[in-house]
Amino acid sequence: MGKRSLRDLKDLASKRVLIRVDFNVPLNEDGSISNDRRIRAALPTIRYVLDAGAIAICMSHLGRPKGDPKQDAIYRMDRVGQRLSKLLAKPVKKLDQVVGPDVVAAVHAAQPGAVILLENLRFHPGEQKGDEAFAAELAKLGDVYVNDAFGTCHRTDASMYAVPKLMTGKPRVVGFLVAKELEILERLLTSPARPFVGVLGGAKVSDKIGFIKRLLERVDRVLIGGAMTYTFLRALGHNIGNSRVEADKLDVARELLNLGQGKITLPMDHLIADRLDASATTRVVEGPIPDGWIGVDIGPKTIEQYAAAVGQAGMVVWNGPMGKFEDEPFSRGTRAMAEAMARSSAVTVVGGGETAEAVEAFGLDEKMTHVSTGGGAFLEYVEGTPFKALSILDEASER
Ligand code: ADP
Ligand code: 3PG
Ligand code: MG
Repeated sequence: MGKRSLRDLKDLASKRVLIRVDFNVPLNEDGSISNDRRIRAALPTIRYVLDAGAIAICMSHLGRPKGDPKQDAIYRMDRVGQRLSKLLAKPVKKLDQVVGPDVVAAVHAAQPGAVILLENLRFHPGEQKGDEAFAAELAKLGDVYVNDAFGTCHRTDASMYAVPKLMTGKPRVVGFLVAKELEILERLLTSPARPFVGVLGGAKVSDKIGFIKRLLERVDRVLIGGAMTYTFLRALGHNIGNSRVEADKLDVARELLNLGQGKITLPMDHLIADRLDASATTRVVEGPIPDGWIGVDIGPKTIEQYAAAVGQAGMVVWNGPMGKFEDEPFSRGTRAMAEAMARSSAVTVVGGGETAEAVEAFGLDEKMTHVSTGGGAFLEYVEGTPFKALSILDEASER
């Protein structure tokens, strides 16, 4: 049974629609927004609310504030509000408080078609504690609750769980982004087109054990790359030189290799570097990695093999860069996988913070069937973790 969606609601005119979005965008050191994908992803929901003649009250967290106003200034929502205003091509009233009399006054004064953005929810200590008194203050702002914050759905922060819980009797629905994310993930988990190929890379095996296990039950094949390669290779007794490894996770790696027997492919060659630095000396090796050298990307033969497998797939899910792609000389494997997926006629799904950023940086995001806005949420959903933030929302049947 699916969740009741914003589209199922009639008569939104003049309603105050409280929308939990995930505007937790990556920031540059100076506080400017380095990637506004999550803001763009929420636009269909916000526009729909405005077109229906309602008032959009948007709320999000940004970063992980420490509770020190000076240090946390970078996490104020002003720049997010400016970007949202630019993307919507209309004014956004960004408030300097999360809750309180000024917020209530601004919400009451708002006319149909207005957009309000609350200050960073995590500036209030009640948000991450899931505090109900705080949640009650947010809940009273809205006639309708919309969760369009897919990237935060694995959290039970007040705005995600206690707020909709306290809005019993009012519609509590998913927005278009959450609906789209759930639809593609459900397809991937229940009825994938075959062959179904998983491409897995990134930093650590330990971040993704549950994800890999659940995926292994469903895919026909898993192609491994990235730093996690070396934990698997070490677990098999290979020499990995000075490559990044989780020495305390070798048992887990062996367990996963056993589970995935016949399905898991490890790289047959590697790009290795003498330093983890774009100016390093590099070469390609097949077999053992010499001492003093670090595996930084999959090698050219592996690229060819993996690209061919992606080309023949019916569905591909990709999480985790194939190498330390942030340094251009080590980005070839990641770029090649993105290109192979972009070319492929398969249903292609990309998830994970850095993986999505890489695909965007290559300008290939539009060529994918779906690029998830979730990092942790994407991994945990595939892993099968039930999301309390979703369970509290109305079911599609409750019309
Ligand atoms: P995602 O956010 O997409 O889930 P991860 O967080 O697991 O991905 O991993 C991304 C990081 O892994 C990137 O910053 C990348 O530089 C790093 N990485 C990938 N391969 C290597 C490698 N061979 N050596 C060092 N770092 C690597
Ligand atoms: C994310 O970026 O994964 C979400 O916005 C949640 O942020 P958090 O990991 O700080 O809770
Ligand atoms: Mg990451």
